[in-house]
Amino acid sequence: MSKKVLVLPGDYIGPEIMAEAVKVLNTVDARFGLGLELEYGLLGGAAIDETGVPLPDATLERAREVDAILLGAVGGPKWDNVERHLRPERGLLGIRSQLGLFANLRPAILYPQLADASSLKPEIVSGLDILIVRELTGGIYFGEPRGIRELENGEREGYNTYKYSESEIRRIGRQAFEAARKRGKKLCSVDKANVLEATVLWREIMDELAPEYPDVELSHMYVDNAAMQLVMRPKQFDVVVTGNMFGDILSDTAAMLTGSIGMLPSASLDKDGRGMYEPCHGSAPDIAGEGKANPLATILSAAMMLRYTLGSAEAADAIEAAVSKVLDAGLRTPDIHSEGTHLVGTVEMGEAVVTALASE
Ligand code: NAI
Ligand code: MG
Repeated sequence: MSKKVLVLPGDYIGPEIMAEAVKVLNTVDARFGLGLELEYGLLGGAAIDETGVPLPDATLERAREVDAILLGAVGGPKWDNVERHLRPERGLLGIRSQLGLFANLRPAILYPQLADASSLKPEIVSGLDILIVRELTGGIYFGEPRGIRELENGEREGYNTYKYSESEIRRIGRQAFEAARKRGKKLCSVDKANVLEATVLWREIMDELAPEYPDVELSHMYVDNAAMQLVMRPKQFDVVVTGNMFGDILSDTAAMLTGSIGMLPSASLDKDGRGMYEPCHGSAPDIAGEGKANPLATILSAAMMLRYTLGSAEAADAIEAAVSKVLDAGLRTPDIHSEGTHLVGTVEMGEAVVTALASE
């Protein structure tokens, strides 16, 4: 049976890294007989240029039809001056909310070959393997009312609304407990229950769910402490679950513990486990067109897609093993380069993964 994948390359380095991920997908498709059918679509700035809007109806329609979506990255200075509601990022927020992709899974793994890429001491980060589960379609990024208004005294005021309903909390909580169950069986829920009522409810619901998962040990932490603990003693965590805004910040922090955002994949899932897969990083306009972006985060996102949505764990394992092999051989894009390793560009890195796959 064929499996349809919608490929959305996006902007700036997006198409460069996606080209390599597609080569890798085609290679595992041939080797494992997966029956992948790739089709391309527009999102973000690329969509604005062609159609005037960041999320064209045609893209949304195909996104609903396919089995999984693989995205590069969107946005960049070229679209800085378009109206706020037409910004590339709106396309991304739109597709996530339209498809109900409420669970963002972001692993932060420190590859042993890159132990020296982290800014932290080896004994603090070596062997790090944590998973941040971020709520993605609610909270302050979507809460209404929002805007900038004029007060009676003539001063302007910006405002947003932080809110989560019980059902929103419950479904992300369940995803996180399930994930913890498949890993180290520890779940830390992060909130700001000492200040924000919305997160008092968050904490209550997590406690309510806990008895359904007696094998998982639940703990709670305030977000400011979590930020400190992540940097001080990151290996105390297994799975961390939190709301949209805290998750945005904590997942980027966790990402940097590993030394390079160019290595980190992510998944955004709906209630049935269908999803969109993308690297954690953005469109990196500062290096676009130079052929030096690291394609591994996108390649590893493709592996996650095979594992979590397309049911091909074997192909996912093979990709991850090939990436490890290429790192073992000393190949490094500039973002992970250190003395004594072999500096390569985007295409060389992608092709090395393809070669490693073929030679297994
Ligand atoms: P960024 O992640 O694009 O770049 C941050 C830094 O990391 C830059 O120095 C960049 O060169 C480097 N970097 C990122 N990916 C890399 C890779 N694969 N290999 C090597 N180096 C890499 O974040 P920034 O600069 O804040 O945002 C740039 C644009 O991307 C903005 O328009 C932003 O809105 C958008 N963005 C899009 C995201 C998405 O599509 N999911 C996520 C984050 C940002
Ligand atoms: Mg972010």
